[in-house]
Amino acid sequence: MSRKLSSEVTLEGVGKRYGDLWAVREVSLTIRPGEFFTLLGPSGCGKTTLLRLIAGFALPDAGGILLDGEPIDHVPPWKRDVGLVFQHYALWPHLSVYENVAFGLRERKVPRAQIAQKVAAVLSQVGLEGFERRRPSQLSGGQQQRVALARTLAVQPRLLLLDEPLSNLDAQLRAQMRIELARLQRDLAITTLYVTHDQAEALALSNRVAVMLEGAVVQQGTPEEVYWRPRNRFVAEFVGAANLFPVQVVELRETGVLVETGSGTRLPVPADPGRWRPGTRALLCLRPEALRLEEAAIGRGTGFLATVAGRVFEGDRHVYEVRLGEGAHLRVELPALGEGRIFRLGDRVRVELTAETAVLLPET
Ligand SMILES: Nc1ncnc2c1ncn2[C@@H]1O[C@H](COP(=O)(O)OP(=O)(O)OP(=O)(O)O)[C@@H](O)[C@H]1O
Ligand SMILES: [Mg+2]
Repeated sequence: MSRKLSSEVTLEGVGKRYGDLWAVREVSLTIRPGEFFTLLGPSGCGKTTLLRLIAGFALPDAGGILLDGEPIDHVPPWKRDVGLVFQHYALWPHLSVYENVAFGLRERKVPRAQIAQKVAAVLSQVGLEGFERRRPSQLSGGQQQRVALARTLAVQPRLLLLDEPLSNLDAQLRAQMRIELARLQRDLAITTLYVTHDQAEALALSNRVAVMLEGAVVQQGTPEEVYWRPRNRFVAEFVGAANLFPVQVVELRETGVLVETGSGTRLPVPADPGRWRPGTRALLCLRPEALRLEEAAIGRGTGFLATVAGRVFEGDRHVYEVRLGEGAHLRVELPALGEGRIFRLGDRVRVELTAETAVLLPET
């Protein structure tokens, strides 16, 4: 199992149609050898369909797929050497853990002694030594999940496709499995395409993320890029909490633009000045943790005057809701262990922001 497995996958304008609906449309992306790449998007946006196309369980109606530079459209699924862990993974209930993991190896006519070796190796990789003789019904959800993963890894695929593998686990176990999965993927250096509609999972695990909507990739990049430089409103709201409010561009500057809110507050915002014109309406996106609160009387610098309208303590942070003069609300997250003071309902505050964290988005 020490063999380094890493293949490159390229999708070129891939489309898949069901009747009148393009479930996947013009998807082009390259997943590099050893990379952990995630497809992130809401239910029905085409994530599973895209995995099925790569695995060979469905054929594209447009474009093509290459594995290590070779077109694979005419290669049947069992010859693609691609491991898929399904959204609703099904273990054989009447087989032991050992037999479940050995299944694919027996199908490939691997000699018995080698099977024993490989099963032992993958079970140890997923932390299930000693569970060989149990039945799936005698395992926890997380353990069953690991068997499903071990079963797929046992045949040493060139590419690992994981379809929401943690979705049926509770929040705590999911967070733990997330860390283990990241470690395992790093150790194996196996090219992995991961599917989830959970943005926290996508940001935590991935080298790169593609955000999908209605069959198309809206934006791809590192987790930091899609989080801090969302391309539009959908990405901004889908990959995290976002304060969005309408502004107007009033002036172009060398490295950004000056915008004005409804109540007349002016703020410099980093943006490509070539993309904007004075007078254009836009949306300003501010991440809640990029904002700070000061007492209105002492606050200085760029910011808005506001009134505290709500506060929730979430253990590691205080989440404030503040109301601006113009009636808009902002969500502000402050670390609970910070040295800052705690504000009360009705307090007058100044919301301060670092201009670099603000993003200007098209109005629609
Ligand atoms: N075999 C099929 N026949 C007809 N329509 C299909 C078929 N498979 C998927 N679709 C449709 O294609 C679209 C994409 O489905 P897909 O399963 O890829 O979404 P998904 O992103 O995986 O969603 P989820 O997060 O709910 O699993 C949906 O509108 C779905 O109804
Ligand atoms: Mg799906």
